[in-house]
Amino acid sequence: MITSDSSSDLPPRLGSLVFHGPLSEARATRMIERLAATAPADVLDIGCGWGELLLRVLEAAPDAKGAGIDINAEDLARGRALAEERGLADRVTFVEESALGTDRGPVDAILCLGSSQALCDPDLPHDPAVALRELRRLVRPGGRVVLGEGFWERTPTETELAGMWPGAHTGEHHSLGALVDLAIEAGFRPAWIETASTDEWEEFESGYRYDTEVWLAAHPDHPLADETRERVDRQRSSWLNGYRRALGIAYLTLVAVA
Ligand SMILES: C[S@@+](CC[C@H](N)C(=O)[O-])C[C@H]1O[C@@H](n2cnc3c(N)ncnc32)[C@H](O)[C@@H]1O
Repeated sequence: MITSDSSSDLPPRLGSLVFHGPLSEARATRMIERLAATAPADVLDIGCGWGELLLRVLEAAPDAKGAGIDINAEDLARGRALAEERGLADRVTFVEESALGTDRGPVDAILCLGSSQALCDPDLPHDPAVALRELRRLVRPGGRVVLGEGFWERTPTETELAGMWPGAHTGEHHSLGALVDLAIEAGFRPAWIETASTDEWEEFESGYRYDTEVWLAAHPDHPLADETRERVDRQRSSWLNGYRRALGIAYLTLVAVA
């Protein structure tokens, strides 16, 4: 596996991203303010990565304790280091474990951004309805869930589907309306509905590969250059020739019905 290491000449990994998804500072701030206003006692971040949003929620809600769970040890270590830097280490734990069937609930607030697959059986097709029922199980009545979930902005063409990823098909996502209906069926009211903008997508997609593109330009003959170039070229093509302007990300602030 290729890992990042700024002290060597290995290709970097996600170093310049603040959030691991198309999320602007402005939108994150608004989501955090809405969540912190409910004064949660405990916050669970499902598939937290390095937990930037979780840490900011804890800064905004000084009485809250947080737990982030993920299966990526490198991202969790980055989260622990960020928590230390910000004086939050005594209020947050970053745990390396799968969220599938987790018993870390019920809590007052859940973050689940770009990671609802963590709540679903990996051997079955991804089903947001399953994830939403799990989220309802894990949050107290009246509690909040901030869910970042994919949806089709419009039905992709056959050419776009062929450009996305192997086996891409229209059944993989819902429309925004159908996704929100699933949240209601799972026992939530959709308190706030917003979607990632083109700017947020472009910041994320470019930021995702920026360090690696710069590294490739400086290290064309590195032993890892060919596989790294092949990987980022495939990722960029999947976006530009596939899901760009077809796949959306919805940020749903959901309230659990009592
Ligand atoms: C797109 S990233 C989002 C990270 C973070 N929520 C954010 O927005 O910055 C998806 C995350 O889900 C995690 N993940 C995938 N399967 C998981 C599982 N079964 N249990 C916990 N985390 C999982 C991945 O390791 C990855 O960090």
